[in-house]
Amino acid sequence: MELKDKVALVTGGAQGIGRTISEELTRAGAHVVLGDVNLEGAQATAEAINNSGGSASAVKIDVSNSTEVREVFDFILKDKKPVDIVVNNAGITRDGLMVRMKESDWDLVLDINLKGSFLCSQQAAKQMMKQKSGTIVNIASIVGVMGNFGQANYSASKAGVIGLTKTLAREVASRGIRVNAIAPGFIDTEMTRVLDEEVRQKLIEQIPLARLGLPEDVARCVNFLVSDKSSYITGQVINLNGGMLM
Ligand code: NAI
Repeated sequence: MELKDKVALVTGGAQGIGRTISEELTRAGAHVVLGDVNLEGAQATAEAINNSGGSASAVKIDVSNSTEVREVFDFILKDKKPVDIVVNNAGITRDGLMVRMKESDWDLVLDINLKGSFLCSQQAAKQMMKQKSGTIVNIASIVGVMGNFGQANYSASKAGVIGLTKTLAREVASRGIRVNAIAPGFIDTEMTRVLDEEVRQKLIEQIPLARLGLPEDVARCVNFLVSDKSSYITGQVINLNGGMLM
């Protein structure tokens, strides 16, 4: 129970990787607040976690909306205590070739994936600086490091998340706060289930460990990065991709 008495906010916690991260952190003893635009989904996930012996609650948050983000952090502070852990996991894709990409698809992806991580990290840092402790983990992506066909908006947002991680890590290290990112490769979730079978097989051929990643692979890494086991690690990007990018 390494995270006993810790309060964590996991954005996009209703499903996929965020859900598995939330389950993992509650197993380690944390109370997890699942923040999601999909409140019903987040409530159902929180209920499932509570029914299996964990401690979780759900809040509605659109991470790209600064007012909502501030209200959620104020609520957690009043309801529980300052946040100890924030996992910026909420993210979307709106893929298309760059020459045909709609400006609205560029803006939406940048607003949720990058600005959302900025807004939540800013509120988190304010609370954590007062307590002189805390950890933030940003979920970036392999395509933020290497680019990807049809993902100009998404890869730019995730490259931005990596820059944000390194800058914030430098700014808050002296206050005892660590900030790291995970750049997952292709993980088996709703987001990648839209790929047709041929594309999936081609992807797997490029992965030395010969499989897509699992949400559990990401969740265990998050658990490590928010625990004292990684107390000398900050400003890093962990490439979690089965060897696809070395
Ligand atoms: P998912 O689509 O299954 O889940 C995303 C969650 O974020 C959903 O619950 C959704 O309601 C929530 N969300 C969307 N917009 C939001 C907003 N504005 N405010 C709050 N919540 C919002 O996605 P998945 O696959 O679980 O991805 C999670 C994170 O991991 C994302 O940041 C994604 O970019 C990243 N990632 C995923 C990979 C994959 O292969 N699935 C690979 C690399 C990174």
